[in-house]
Amino acid sequence: MTDKIILGIESSCDETGVGIVRLGGDGAIELLADEVASSVEQHVRFGGVVPEVASRAHLEAMIPTMDRALDAARLSLSNVDAIAVTCGPGLAGALLVGVSAAKAYAAALDVPLYGVNHLAGHVAADTLQHGPLPSETLALLVSGGHTQLLRVDDLAGKITEIGSTIDDAAGEAYDKVARIIGLPYPGGPPIDKAAQQGDPKAIAFPRGLTGPRDAKFDFSFSGLKTAVARWVEARERDGEPVPVEDVCASFQEAVADVLTAKAVRAATELGIGTMVISGGVAANSRIKALAADRCAEAGIELRVPRPRLCTDNGAMIAALGAHLVAAGVRPSSLDLPTDPGLPVDTIYV
Ligand code: KG4
Ligand code: ZN
Repeated sequence: MTDKIILGIESSCDETGVGIVRLGGDGAIELLADEVASSVEQHVRFGGVVPEVASRAHLEAMIPTMDRALDAARLSLSNVDAIAVTCGPGLAGALLVGVSAAKAYAAALDVPLYGVNHLAGHVAADTLQHGPLPSETLALLVSGGHTQLLRVDDLAGKITEIGSTIDDAAGEAYDKVARIIGLPYPGGPPIDKAAQQGDPKAIAFPRGLTGPRDAKFDFSFSGLKTAVARWVEARERDGEPVPVEDVCASFQEAVADVLTAKAVRAATELGIGTMVISGGVAANSRIKALAADRCAEAGIELRVPRPRLCTDNGAMIAALGAHLVAAGVRPSSLDLPTDPGLPVDTIYV
């Protein structure tokens, strides 16, 4: 097989991403471009992503982002051999923009189109930095929209969900807690920063779903968020100042403790020797440090892609597309639908 250029388009939430990779004849995947336009600033005053605003921003950003990616890779559209696009899960209108663009490019260039799963893309992102995954990997996916434990047997073939959040996603909990204590949106980075100055043992916040009868691989963060709100309200009612750093450190410790304990337990019980953590929340300093300690203790190899590859981007979609091309998967039809609720075990459509 000769080299192939695969272009990936991502538009499932508030990031318009276009990535380009080269799939070598030996199966190696090389990152050539990773351009992202974010509409996060437009959502700040609402404290969360507004779907209609995101859709319009994708529409405006799609062609400029495509042009920037081609420039960065020093390629033109005529060099592209295949197009991969996120067709779910995500926001309905946002997905439609990326899928429509991908269909138009694929039809105009007469190249195959691959409709792919955003969540599988987050796992594929790691292969851009650390190379191919072993035959069995435990993936912990933590973002503003998702918190899942996945068993990945084959990126182009088999992914199985073994646990997920029953209420808020981990990133959503960060965003809601930030709002409660007056930090800006998105809440992950400012809480992570404030927590460095705080005491993680100052307040004993609850660890959701960690009782002996609870689902051992599922997560719950809504009780934690409520506990933080109640604690802060009580301080304010008593006219006491809120120790923001301690609240952040104690909240962050509760999240990191539950995420890493459940992920390590899952890998250990399933006999899996490699863990990948991906999604925007994987940028968190405490989650990374605690995961590193606990994985080392359990003899598990830990892989966390750099933050740029953890947050939503087009490169991860191009990478997943390259895995599908390499595996000889049949392309999608040009009437590929979007599916806002696409289950994670459907890697491509
Ligand atoms: O993967 P992502 O960019 O978008 C999706 O939700 O798909 O993740 C965004 C989420 C936000 O909730 C943000 O608060 C969180 O990732 N986040 C963090 C950190 N950086 C971003 N959470 C904790 N610590 C961080 N350092
Ligand atoms: Zn994502």
